[in-house]
Amino acid sequence: MEIRTVGVIGAGQMGNGIAHVFALAGYQVLLNDISPDALSKAIAVIERNLDRQVTREKISQEDKTAAMGRIDTTTTLTDLGPLDLIIEAATERETVKTAIFEDLQPHLRPETILTSNTSSISITRLASRTDRPEKFMGLHFMNPVPVMQLVELIRGIATDEATYKTMLGVVESLGKTAASAEDFPAFIVNRILMPMINEAVYTLYEGVGNVRSIDESMKLGANHPMGPLELADFIGLDTCLAIMNVLHDGLADTKYRPCPLLTKYVEAGWLGRKTSRGFYDYR
Ligand code: CAA
Repeated sequence: MEIRTVGVIGAGQMGNGIAHVFALAGYQVLLNDISPDALSKAIAVIERNLDRQVTREKISQEDKTAAMGRIDTTTTLTDLGPLDLIIEAATERETVKTAIFEDLQPHLRPETILTSNTSSISITRLASRTDRPEKFMGLHFMNPVPVMQLVELIRGIATDEATYKTMLGVVESLGKTAASAEDFPAFIVNRILMPMINEAVYTLYEGVGNVRSIDESMKLGANHPMGPLELADFIGLDTCLAIMNVLHDGLADTKYRPCPLLTKYVEAGWLGRKTSRGFYDYR
């Protein structure tokens, strides 16, 4: 099946990045969010990030103008009905995602492919709540989406080969590289990355190092572009905690127990960059 039109649900940091890369690759994009304010902020962020790429001579001014012209916005979910591909990038809560698919599917064409950008929730379970589990996949982008090369492609137990092949072609058309992952908690990247971040928080909690020494150690000692605590702030501490809980519940191993300090920061509302406070103070 040829994909030309794409609906992106959720205009947060992942949703706006996904809309950005699809529009730049020539797809017609309809970005949906319940909040008109989130949509106008997303358009401003996309424009700023495209400008960054123009300044660094990664794309031309014409590419930017054409990409901006391919993005429309809507607060009405059912406007996405006629589109070829749906990418759900809403809040990382299963009830929210399931409700979105249930509301949308009566308006979809039978051939439309459904995907979720979930970073950890079971694709098989999300798919089973839709009318087309064979046309459902995980399509997991990394943050910042315009920069990161990888997209995880996750097949649910019922996903058919045609859907997988179509989505592999779509990822390649974005100039990105797909890694295929089986549907187990947190897939590949977060199965490895989140325990490292959680261990960095334990290292802080137990007083082995302070925020700066932990981050410097991993940047200069392991050549990571960001230290683990800076990266946790960048991803969002609530997201990190949610993923650790999925690993802990799904794999039932104490090695995935979230650090109490991570839980405490989330309970305080110190979620990282998005709330201007996390392991670092951005105020
Ligand atoms: N849009 C477009 N371009 C962007 C951008 C954006 N949002 N953010 C950064 N860039 C570009 C910059 O313009 C710059 O381009 P050039 O290479 O052409 O100069 C390049 O990216 C590097 O940016 P900066 O110079 O501003 O800053 P930096 O060198 O410190 O890099 C970074 C920033 C790319 C974010 C880098 O620190 C990095 O790779 N960090 C690790 C990110 C990471 O691990 N992401 C995965 C998180 S896990 C995840 O996403 C999965 C999940 O489910 C939680």
